[in-house]
Amino acid sequence: MFTAEVDPHASKSALYRDLERSLASLLEGESDPVANLANAAALLRQFLDRINWCGFYLLRRGELVLGPFQGRPACVRIPIGSGVCGTAAERRETLVVPDVNAFPGHIACDAASRSEIVVPLLPGGSLRGVLDVDAPELSRFDDEDRRGLERFVKTLEPRVAWEAL
Ligand code: SME
Repeated sequence: MFTAEVDPHASKSALYRDLERSLASLLEGESDPVANLANAAALLRQFLDRINWCGFYLLRRGELVLGPFQGRPACVRIPIGSGVCGTAAERRETLVVPDVNAFPGHIACDAASRSEIVVPLLPGGSLRGVLDVDAPELSRFDDEDRRGLERFVKTLEPRVAWEAL
């Protein structure tokens, strides 16, 4: 049985290093996309404090559709170019939004969300969706979170059979 200990006193860099190792160990020998994305979302929920939503939107027929997540029920479809998720997907780059209410076109799924980070999923260079993490406080995510979550996504990408989605 997989177990991961989260040290509440660890530095951010140590936390993300542990998170990455835990993800690799949790997904070892498995490539099912729903199972692995669901476990990845659950691991983020376990490791990251001060967040209210984390999960995936997956590219399906040219739009983002809700995938495995942890948190309150969320909006299902997001067009490419809309909201924080659709903009990060269109630009193919991570977006760190310190105040979601100041982001033009932000899509409010959970009214508690104040700040957000979205990392595109680009295995082999093709867009498959995004990882979205929301927090109930302003400026929750900094550059270290960006680096940590980008590495998390890079660890995840080769361990998911995207073609089976
Ligand atoms: N706020 C996102 C929508 C997804 S929810 O936060 C889960 C956006 O603007 O794209």
